[in-house]
Amino acid sequence: MTQRFAGKVALVTGGASGIGRVTALALAKEGAKVTVADVSVEGGEATVKRVADAGGQAIFTKADVTKSSEVEAMVKETVKAFGRLDFALNNAGIDGVRARTADYPEDVWNQVIDINLTGVFLCLKFELPIMVKQKSGVIVNLSSVAGVTGFPGHAAYTASKHGVIGLTKTAAIDYAKVGIRVNAVCPAYTRTPMVTRMLENNPEFEAKLIDRVPLKRLGTAEEIAQAVIYLFSDAAAFITGHSLVLDGGIVAE
Ligand SMILES: NC(=O)c1ccc[n+]([C@@H]2O[C@H](COP(=O)([O-])OP(=O)(O)OC[C@H]3O[C@@H](n4cnc5c(N)ncnc54)[C@H](O)[C@@H]3O)[C@@H](O)[C@H]2O)c1
Repeated sequence: MTQRFAGKVALVTGGASGIGRVTALALAKEGAKVTVADVSVEGGEATVKRVADAGGQAIFTKADVTKSSEVEAMVKETVKAFGRLDFALNNAGIDGVRARTADYPEDVWNQVIDINLTGVFLCLKFELPIMVKQKSGVIVNLSSVAGVTGFPGHAAYTASKHGVIGLTKTAAIDYAKVGIRVNAVCPAYTRTPMVTRMLENNPEFEAKLIDRVPLKRLGTAEEIAQAVIYLFSDAAAFITGHSLVLDGGIVAE
């Protein structure tokens, strides 16, 4: 099989689990060298091992996306190890708790906004200058279907994911002239550890979620990874500032 990303270098935050892990594996399969970044050392190293076992090349770097110095070091380590940065998937995120808006705990609000929104901003802050120097690069930010619709009981998550779309559009316009593309993906319920944790405590909820999806199933991390690969690839060369919704038809209703 031809590898579309031979010689390319990719960085994936939140690469220790779920969508980040599966996308890191898909990128490596396409020939990219991958930096897996996460707060979870165990999970991040397990992803690196899976990449190596499949014949790919990856390194792990521990980075909390809310800490500017760690994000800066994560980007520096990537460039030190692999010489450049072609693709960045700003994917690290958390879901917060479920509470009506007025009851939403302030500390959880701050944590969700810090990781899901400020974390993406900090990644952009250190990834973009490298790409500007190269005069090339593609970034994909993780938003959500909750970035384009309301999500009852999830004020902070919804606000953070709407924020990611605004940030994506602005960065896309700011850097279009230098040949950098910035897009977002907006998955609906995708079977990952994040969603499995949510369903564990509430099994009837799974049937309810599936019922909300016109295609009558949850998404898979592989389906999100393939959309990210497409946005990174030259097949998407004219796409920037876009938010690609992968939701089994939810927003069409
Ligand atoms: N699973 C879904 O249904 C779904 C739907 C829409 C959007 N998303 C988004 O996709 C992204 C990945 O979610 P997932 O479902 O794979 O979840 P997940 O919980 O399986 O993985 C998230 C990863 O992010 C890491 N992380 C959390 N806080 C971090 C921090 N401060 N710094 C660095 N890493 C951190 C975690 O350790 C974990 O490895 C998230 O941004 C999520 O909001 C998921």
